[in-house]
Amino acid sequence: MSIRQEIDITIKAIADTFRFFEDLGCNGFECQATSLQALEKWQASAEYHHETLEVVRQDLGECQRCRLWKRRSYIVFGEGSPNARLMFVGEGPGFDEDQTGKPFVGAAGQLLTKIIQAMQLNRADVYIANIIKCRPPGNRTPLSDEIKTCLPFLHRQIEVIKPQFICTLGSVAAQALLQTKSPISRLRGNWRTSMGIRVMPTYHPAYLLRNPDRKRDVWEDIKLIMKELNI
Ligand code: URA
Repeated sequence: MSIRQEIDITIKAIADTFRFFEDLGCNGFECQATSLQALEKWQASAEYHHETLEVVRQDLGECQRCRLWKRRSYIVFGEGSPNARLMFVGEGPGFDEDQTGKPFVGAAGQLLTKIIQAMQLNRADVYIANIIKCRPPGNRTPLSDEIKTCLPFLHRQIEVIKPQFICTLGSVAAQALLQTKSPISRLRGNWRTSMGIRVMPTYHPAYLLRNPDRKRDVWEDIKLIMKELNI
C-alpha cells in the first residue's frame, strides 16, 4: 500500500471517529493554543501543499514581475540537491550565469566551487541560489523592489529544501534574508536565524577576488558551518 493510500485510510478513520462522537452529542473538543499554532504551522507548510522545487519553478514561469526580464537571457532558478543540508545564497546572476541559466559559474562561482570542495563537499551536495533570479543590467546591485518581488520564490525554495544551514554570500544576500541593514562586516561570522534556519553570513566570493586577504575570514566562517555539519 502506498503512503498516500495509508494517509487516506487514516483520515477516513479519524473522520468516522468524529462522526461517532457527533452522533453521541459531542460538538467540539478543547484545543490548546499551542496545538492550534502547531496545526496552523503545518497547514502553511510546503509538505501540506505538496510543494516541490518543480512547482515553484512552474509558478515562476517566464517571469515578467519586475523590469529585469527585459534584458535577461535565462532565469537562474538555482541548482543542487533538493535534500541539501547546506544552501548557499548569493546576490544575483552575473554575465556567465545569465548566459547559462546556472548559478555561480563565472569567476566568483569558480571560487565558490573551490570553497565547497575545501569543505569536502561537491556542488551537487549543496543547493545554490540567489536573492534575485535575473541579471541586473551591468551587474548593478538589485533594487529593493526587485528583491521584494523575487524573494518569495527563494523563500519557497528554502521551505521545500529545508536546509539545516544557509550560508549567505555578500551583503545583499545577508541583508535581504535576515531583513537587516547591518553591514556585512558586522554580520559575517555570527550565526543568525531566518525562517527557523541557522544562517551564517560571509563575504561574497567576488569580493574575495578583489580582496584576497579576506579569504581567511571566509574560511573561519566556513569552518563554523563545517563544525555544525560534523565535517
Ligand atoms: N554572483 C552572485 O551573487 N550570484 C551568482 O550566481 C553569480 C555571481
